[in-house]
Amino acid sequence: MEAQKERVFIFDTTLRDGEQSPGASMNPDEKLRVARQLERMGVDVIEAGFPVASDGDFASVRQIALEVRGCQIAALARANAADIDRAWEAVAGAANPRIHTFISSSDIHLQYQLRKSREQVLQEAVAAVAHARRYTENVEFSPMDATRSDRGYLCQMVEAVIAAGATTVNIPDTVGYAIPEEFGGLIALLISRVPNIGKAIISVHCHNDLGLATANALAAVKNGARQVECTINGIGERAGNSAMEEIVMALKTRKDLFGLTAGIKSEYIHQSSRLLTQITGIPVQPNKAIVGANAFAHESGIHQDGLIKEKITYEIMTPQSVGISDTHIVLGKHSGRHAVSHRLKEMGYDLTDEVLKQVYVRLMELADVKKEIFDEDLEAIVYEETSRHEEKYRLLYLNVVSGNVAVPTATMQMEVDGQMVQEAGFGVGPVDATFAAIRKITNTNYPLLKFAVNAITGGTDAQGEVTVQLKFDGRSAVGRGAHPDILVASAKAYINALNRLVWLSTDIKKVKVA
Ligand code: KIV
Ligand code: ZN
Repeated sequence: MEAQKERVFIFDTTLRDGEQSPGASMNPDEKLRVARQLERMGVDVIEAGFPVASDGDFASVRQIALEVRGCQIAALARANAADIDRAWEAVAGAANPRIHTFISSSDIHLQYQLRKSREQVLQEAVAAVAHARRYTENVEFSPMDATRSDRGYLCQMVEAVIAAGATTVNIPDTVGYAIPEEFGGLIALLISRVPNIGKAIISVHCHNDLGLATANALAAVKNGARQVECTINGIGERAGNSAMEEIVMALKTRKDLFGLTAGIKSEYIHQSSRLLTQITGIPVQPNKAIVGANAFAHESGIHQDGLIKEKITYEIMTPQSVGISDTHIVLGKHSGRHAVSHRLKEMGYDLTDEVLKQVYVRLMELADVKKEIFDEDLEAIVYEETSRHEEKYRLLYLNVVSGNVAVPTATMQMEVDGQMVQEAGFGVGPVDATFAAIRKITNTNYPLLKFAVNAITGGTDAQGEVTVQLKFDGRSAVGRGAHPDILVASAKAYINALNRLVWLSTDIKKVKVA
């Protein structure tokens, strides 16, 4: 029990709250890949989704519950029997399932959204927990908008749900309103005022509307919270949630202050961050703590001088501790399959022989045109080779003519539902012409919300990484493509967005939460 007290449990909600970020929708294969990565990192609980929201969410939670056995799998449910039944149906097969049920506790929500009295809501909270307890002992309850709730009522609700059987009580700062000292004080208040608080683990779930999500969660931990809900790269509703990498590295770097440990293998942080960016197309700002491109880049001469003399002068954690390797050039034209497989294993990938073979072929093709192959190049290839499921559209051939005297023209061959189709498109530039050809072949015309090109690594022979976002039906689908030729990368990204849109259009979300 003593050891438990020194642990902070990491509850990852990338697949639930994180997926609610605009443009972050993931298909079931992608969710499973993220879940496997979270398991590899050592996350304690994965909130896999909100099963009642859509049939797609339900199926995906169920699949993760059945296939990811190394951590607890939680499903979210509003405080009603139908939601809870559906959540249980989805997670029942997990090695260690959890039901997470919630209802608002602030007068603002009660009056304007639920239009119910405090007594009614309290009753529903207790009934929901009691209902969930019939299925499992592992029940989490969240009083939504806790930070704007009357303290007396909040204490009353927390006491009642623990009495009804909740084993984790999560205190959400749903609208990101709290300030660290105040939020830490709220946790201390609950510990001092709720008589049965010792029977449950106190969790926190902070939103980043004022840029304080991580600071608030840490203040809560300092005051006795022992579970933090967070997401990779801090994605989530509006300004997002506490970033897992920030929580984990703060606890690790300042163990002197917290005296607590999270069971996360921090060497997987960088890889997890990249995986999520690849899947969602949501980039990480360069100055983002821990995972931003500049997080370990020292520009000032004085800092560089200090670092050369002794790293501790300006480095509070090493890049290696978050999985940024110091060996950059990894492979080239003469690397054998064994070396590739070895490097992939070092990077945390466990690929089947079939996929490994494909990755190797692609790598050798790339090595023909690019002298130095970096981890990021390898990651981009692995991403594409492991995301090839149920593709309606596939690029077979692209030839583009452009310049300042020609009308930019793209000739393209694609496979559509297994049939080869060929077309030409014209445009104001080569990318426009390429997209025109794709639109003709696929007979689609979705508005383009975003088109961004990034060099994966340095050098003029670097692979271009293109992100395309298409709008459909009030939602959006993000696609990604990488290739040394940015027109091919652009075509791949557009086609990837169309393939993802096929899945998304079949999964209509009925309900969303904060
Ligand atoms: O922000 C919030 O209040 C939530 C709850 C469902 C925990 O996401
Ligand atoms: Zn939330």
